[in-house]
Amino acid sequence: MRGPRRQERAITGNRQTSWAFADAYGAEHVEHVEHSAALRWARDRAREAGLRPVSDGTGAALRLLAAAVDAKAVAEIGTGTGVSGIHLLHGMRPDGVLTTVDTEPECQQIARQAFRAAGFAANRARFIPGRALDVLPRLADGGYDLVFCDGDRMECLEYLGESLRLLRPGGLVCFEGVFADGRTVDTSAQPAEVLRLRELLRTVRDSTALLPSLLPVGDGLLCAVKRGR
Ligand SMILES: C[S@@+](CC[C@H](N)C(=O)[O-])C[C@H]1O[C@@H](n2cnc3c(N)ncnc32)[C@H](O)[C@@H]1O
Repeated sequence: MRGPRRQERAITGNRQTSWAFADAYGAEHVEHVEHSAALRWARDRAREAGLRPVSDGTGAALRLLAAAVDAKAVAEIGTGTGVSGIHLLHGMRPDGVLTTVDTEPECQQIARQAFRAAGFAANRARFIPGRALDVLPRLADGGYDLVFCDGDRMECLEYLGESLRLLRPGGLVCFEGVFADGRTVDTSAQPAEVLRLRELLRTVRDSTALLPSLLPVGDGLLCAVKRGR
């Protein structure tokens, strides 16, 4: 392949390489993400299960954001093997509780072990097995400081609606993976989940209830504060 399209691919490839490097460099040299045995173990289990955990850079951002809102209650969609959960728990208040939802109880069992190995008491996490859209309506209105969404991309708009209900004013909603490996900004035909992510980005941008920012860490972390303190 020759010409601009090839050049475009090459540039995108280089960008992705340097982006991944910056993400890992930032986590190691700036944000001091501890590569604890528990975190490594949870990452290894994710790889075995074919899951994609948050990157080190995204983990550091989640830790920072949880600390910035002084999070006592965090809701997470997509426990996985617990990588993001460990980061969130590190940023939360020492008495904070992470409520984490996943369709796969086996994953939650692994995450439970990872949290314990990372030194968190059992009462710091509440594991709820099930589909997010069945579980979230049962959680308390305005009861959460931060909602982290890393479940089914096809449901991202519904997660946004539920998050707005769950968050206290001044609380934060975060969506992992909104770049979709660059497909969100790729003009060629894209699958439904990418179209959903684009709709999510537009909806968050246009919402008067939210103050958004798209953080270029990992595969893109869309964050927004719920207005109205
Ligand atoms: C990308 S992984 C989460 C990774 C995790 N946040 C981490 O960093 O370790 C996505 C998870 O979402 C779960 N999931 C997928 N669809 C879901 C749904 N509708 N409701 C709840 N969890 C779902 C999957 O079982 C999987 O464990």
